[in-house]
Amino acid sequence: MPLRQLLEEVRAKPLPQHVAIIMDGNGRWAKARGLPRSEGHRQGSATAERIVRFVAQERLFPYLTVFAFSTENWDRPKSELDFLFALLEEFARTRLEELRQSGVELRILGDLAPFPPSLQEALRAAVEASRGGRNLVFTVALNFGGRWDVLTAARRAMALAQAGKLAPEELTLERFRALLPGGALPDPDLLIRTGGHQRLSNFFLFEAAYTEFYFTPTLWPDFTEEELLLALKDFQSRTRNFGKVGA
Ligand code: IPE
Ligand code: IPE
Ligand code: MG
Repeated sequence: MPLRQLLEEVRAKPLPQHVAIIMDGNGRWAKARGLPRSEGHRQGSATAERIVRFVAQERLFPYLTVFAFSTENWDRPKSELDFLFALLEEFARTRLEELRQSGVELRILGDLAPFPPSLQEALRAAVEASRGGRNLVFTVALNFGGRWDVLTAARRAMALAQAGKLAPEELTLERFRALLPGGALPDPDLLIRTGGHQRLSNFFLFEAAYTEFYFTPTLWPDFTEEELLLALKDFQSRTRNFGKVGA
């Protein structure tokens, strides 16, 4: 089906507010071609840019979050980490500008402190420069983990309690949610994972309580605009009950 027709179909029905993507499969994509894993990451970053540009230009939905580096990814070889950091820095320093012109506002979710200082600086400057983008809030989860997210909220609640600003019975779900680093975004409606594994790998935990999941064997560098639209169509065919009696 041509992309335009798919777009029309998808636009005819309610779209999600927030789509989150676990971009997995870069290494396997490279391996299948006899290339080093780094080539998979390079191709994967091009895919991410293409998808973000598409979502922003088509104003498909207002929030897109991608999982780019997990709290467990530190256990990879140093050479791979260095390559990933260089790629991220290049994105922040040179590639973001074009996305900014498509109305993209960049946000970072995760603890940046352990990253090389020049990467931290580049990311902060990119976030600053893109503030106010009107078409899409694009969040990159970096050194993010669902458990870190919940633990951070718990620590914030304890600090408030110690300061006498929060009693245990005042800590409602709504207040706790507001203390989560990930709570600044609406809960994801749809979570896409490429690369064939059907697991969360410590991505959104609290926020994904009622998220719809879409798993695809497509490796992230091969992911296309068309497949994104197919995932949205699939999402639109589902009934979300949120624990109530179904329609
Ligand atoms: C996802 O691709 C990118 C990151 C986690 C940074 P992988 O590097 O995990 O690719 P596979 O899963 O080994 O193929
Ligand atoms: C999930 O992919 C994390 C990111 C895409 C950033 P992983 O490749 O790290 O997940 P596991 O280790 O296969 O569960
Ligand atoms: Mg992987």
